[in-house]
Amino acid sequence: MTASHDLLVIANRLPVSAEEHADGTTAWNRSPGGLVSALEPVLREHDAVWIGWSGRFAPDPYSTEDLGRELEPLPDDVGPCALSEVELGRDELEGFYEGFSNSTIWPLYHDAIATPVYHRHHWEPYVAVNRRFARRAAELAAEGATVWVHDYQLQLVPQMLREMRPDLRIGFFLHIPFPPEELFLQLPWRKQIIEGLLGSDLVGFHTPGGAANFLRITGRLLGLDFDETGVDVPDSSRASGVRRVTVGAFPISIDTREYDAMARTAEIHDRAIEIREKLGNPRWVILGVDRLDYTKGIDVRLKAFTELLEGGTIEPGEAVFVQIATPSRENVEDYQRLRDEIELMVGRALGDHGLIGAPPIQYLHQPFDRETLVSFYLAADVMLVTPYRDGMNLVCKEYVASRTDGTGALVLSEFAGAAVELTDAFLVNPYDAEGVKQALVDAMRDDPADLSMRMKAMREHLFEHDVARWAASFLDALEESEQNR
Ligand code: ADP
Ligand code: G6P
Repeated sequence: MTASHDLLVIANRLPVSAEEHADGTTAWNRSPGGLVSALEPVLREHDAVWIGWSGRFAPDPYSTEDLGRELEPLPDDVGPCALSEVELGRDELEGFYEGFSNSTIWPLYHDAIATPVYHRHHWEPYVAVNRRFARRAAELAAEGATVWVHDYQLQLVPQMLREMRPDLRIGFFLHIPFPPEELFLQLPWRKQIIEGLLGSDLVGFHTPGGAANFLRITGRLLGLDFDETGVDVPDSSRASGVRRVTVGAFPISIDTREYDAMARTAEIHDRAIEIREKLGNPRWVILGVDRLDYTKGIDVRLKAFTELLEGGTIEPGEAVFVQIATPSRENVEDYQRLRDEIELMVGRALGDHGLIGAPPIQYLHQPFDRETLVSFYLAADVMLVTPYRDGMNLVCKEYVASRTDGTGALVLSEFAGAAVELTDAFLVNPYDAEGVKQALVDAMRDDPADLSMRMKAMREHLFEHDVARWAASFLDALEESEQNR
């Protein structure tokens, strides 16, 4: 690949991940998570290169000379655009990905639901890997190109890239919440992270709250002048002596029309009917779909549903709760513990309340293709989305987009970014166990006319605010921010 690209996307994950089989063959699967789900349709429409990691490991011990030496090149026909693989060594991944990204930043930015760890030996690989991503972008970008950096794994890339290539236009988007200063200031490397992000021309968050937290911290930590639209960073190379970094909220979304269209196909309808039949045609099918992550509040739902069974509000056989949980970050201790906890809860509930041939809970620890997920959305009368904290949450948007006939009910945590937009959901505080039970009962028993009014309002919102609009608004703001240089 040559330095000829005008639009570059950098994210830790490529849109496809390798599954290497014992016989030496490799299967390419869609990568997990909302970032890939959102960006994939956008990049189908752009002539871009996507720089990221494929899930494969460079040989250990990792050294720079190993770059590109032993891995088969990525096939041309996977992914929505050109792909450029950044290689990571197994050891390196432990510090950068399992360590700093997913044991420090992820919990810290999600309200410290799990306790963040602060290890110096995680920080060094985080810096090294960020530098490798920045270098790759510097190599591939055409003069004056736009580089769009994504998410918490790569917060140092904007500054590193600006130092290597001051000609580039750099945008950064954070796909997870940005925490208030009370939490952020715990981070021993807090200054470096803020300075890393301030290498951008535009920094975007899902919600105005995240943007405000960030701006306040730039003032508090670095003493910079900010207002609600951005912050001035000292820059002696400019006549004004400052460089303006624009900061704003850009709520991410889904390809609403695509989900709507999938949900209208006869095949998916038939599969939804089949799912309900296999569940014993209960009066209510209740659904949860998540990566198996402690931020998602899967325990909250299980507890609410189980207590409603225990209390007799839900009669045995009347409702089935299906929880789909994609395996995620399985080498990180908090995720291993969560899996044990959830599976213990499911097992107990089945033991206490199961009927022969009619289990009240179905738990699926598996990834599914999109068509199957949409069939589940279509089969579900109530969707439970109860994270303790979530940057946006796309699953709830996918559910709404799939409810083409306006039926169905969404129970949604106030602490998901999506709650700012989907105000017609049954909004709940996931820490309030009685409140969650009540919301589930309300959603199950609500009058169909009210349900339909709520669903139609949410659908209208999503048709107007889809992922294409999100991407266009970010890229337009990036272009404008650069014009103000
Ligand atoms: P996160 O980014 O934290 O994983 P989101 O709700 O924003 O959460 O996005 C999750 C994405 O992963 C959605 O697009 C959803 O359809 C997809 N997904 C969730 N569970 C599964 C699964 N079991 N199999 C395949 N895709 C899944
Ligand atoms: C969230 C994050 C993404 C991440 C995804 C899957 O959506 O915001 O950056 O890629 O989860 O997590 P993983 O650790 O498997 O990449």
